[in-house]
Amino acid sequence: MVRPGLVPTLSGDLVDYANLDHAASTPAFEGVARAVEAATRSYSSVHRGTGWLSRVTSAHYEAAREEVARFVGARPDDVVVFTRNTTDAVNLLARCLPRDTSVVVFASEHHAALLPWAPRDTVRLPVPGSVRDAEVLLEAALAALPAGTARRPREALVVLTAASNVTGEIWPVDRLTSIARRHGARVLLDGAQYAAHRTVDLGALDVDWVVFSGHKVHAPFGTGVLAGRQDWLDAAPPYLAGGGATAAVTEGGTRWVSGPARHEAGSPNVLGAVALAAACATIREHRSAIEEHEARLTARLLDGLRAIDGVTTYSLFGSSHDRGPVVTFTVDGLDSHLVAAALSAEHGIGVRAGKFCAHLVVDALLDDGSDDGVQHSTAVRASAGLATTEEHVERLLAAVAVLAAEGPGADYVDTPEQGWLPVDDTRELDVPLPW
Ligand code: ALA
Repeated sequence: MVRPGLVPTLSGDLVDYANLDHAASTPAFEGVARAVEAATRSYSSVHRGTGWLSRVTSAHYEAAREEVARFVGARPDDVVVFTRNTTDAVNLLARCLPRDTSVVVFASEHHAALLPWAPRDTVRLPVPGSVRDAEVLLEAALAALPAGTARRPREALVVLTAASNVTGEIWPVDRLTSIARRHGARVLLDGAQYAAHRTVDLGALDVDWVVFSGHKVHAPFGTGVLAGRQDWLDAAPPYLAGGGATAAVTEGGTRWVSGPARHEAGSPNVLGAVALAAACATIREHRSAIEEHEARLTARLLDGLRAIDGVTTYSLFGSSHDRGPVVTFTVDGLDSHLVAAALSAEHGIGVRAGKFCAHLVVDALLDDGSDDGVQHSTAVRASAGLATTEEHVERLLAAVAVLAAEGPGADYVDTPEQGWLPVDDTRELDVPLPW
């Protein structure tokens, strides 16, 4: 892992950064930085030149695609399309749906998986209260979809998350996929919060597509993946029209290639693909050690937060449901953004506060049914991962316990531009530019 430097706190101390924000973005592996450095030394045009280095660069790019295919357990006829991130990958698939495809999606999805679908053809299911509830909701929605005709069968797509970005809970993908299959529907799996933590296997999970982002699997920002069935992708117009996606262009019209290149017009992000492949290879190699480390952190984080008076943690499927290293919580009487600001300023801890680009599920989880006026509208999310140590988790638990009992240890003001800021903050955000 590329280690960050120390970070300043309000007291003037420099402390090891406690990274509890992995669900947003993960730090890059050292091996990723090395792979990018190595590929930078040779890079030239990709799929566009006859020079030796063009061949090297094209080989790097295609080898990256093969590594990602291994990482997601792609079936022989699946394709891997490189995109910018998960949001881009879901939007790409949304553009490729056959006409009148019905989309069924739970309101608990991240906005990236919730919003790209045409409202007219989308059935949005409520946030489920249990696994059984999710099954019943999906079964009923699929049974109620309009039937197609023999000449024009009506397609359906079920959108599922593999792990919630709000609660970290692992969704019952196998049970929901078998319902989808019984109704002849295809399945898109949002693997953004899963791929770094558990094995994605398209074949074993029996899903049609998976999407995920490089910046959540220890590669840099800017690369994502849509992997899975080729037929809908080949039947749709290119996501971007341009060079690389064309088989022939004449005054009479354009013929597009099939396969991944159809949706990767323009010179692609080769270094991003190399970085992503390096991260995937590292994760594959160390999968069981990663799972053990994260299981330990998750158990401590969850038990520790639950044991603090005045702290509430949240779940969809029940407190003992399997989850990745993500816990969302609130502290009685404190604005969640203030909690996050104090954790950062006083303790050098990075968390995220808000609704995590998943407004509907956060609203549903925070709605305690009372109208006593003290309900939270936002929450704090602690998300651990490979850059999180046991000391970081203990530091968070100790800090949250003090916050819950006594409030922040400094004065803060809620500013219109930047939210809560310490009143007396002498730290300079004097960032040396990396170039
Ligand atoms: N999707 C990322 C998150 O949940 C950014 O924080």
